[in-house]
Amino acid sequence: MNKIEHIGIAVSDLGLASDTFEKLLNRKSYKTEDVASESVRTEFFQLGESKLELLGSLDEKSAIASFLSKNRPGMHHIAIAVDDINAEIDRLKSLGFSFVSETPKKGADNKRIVFLHPKSTQGVLVELCEEIEKDR
Ligand code: CO
Repeated sequence: MNKIEHIGIAVSDLGLASDTFEKLLNRKSYKTEDVASESVRTEFFQLGESKLELLGSLDEKSAIASFLSKNRPGMHHIAIAVDDINAEIDRLKSLGFSFVSETPKKGADNKRIVFLHPKSTQGVLVELCEEIEKDR
């Protein structure tokens, strides 16, 4: 567990949210990236060692659309950078933590990611993310 890599924020209007955070943070986002498998569009702001990840839904069946049908826009998940995601999954499973899916998948911003189930993390959706090395 290295640092908070990013905080994910679910938004209903990505353009409006991006504009708000540009003004708030006094900088432009450095990347917009669609994750087709999740039907989500992401926009990233660098803030020191960490980032904010704005998450907009691309269709009504996405996890973000589902989240926004039950919650107001806002904090969605905390992502923690790890060196070896498979080792962390094994370690946390042995301690009784459960996962939304135990198989890491490709996320935005060149990461391999997995989500712990909030029922085992005091209600907080926690993402683990490992940087995908360029030469792999
Ligand atoms: Co994330």
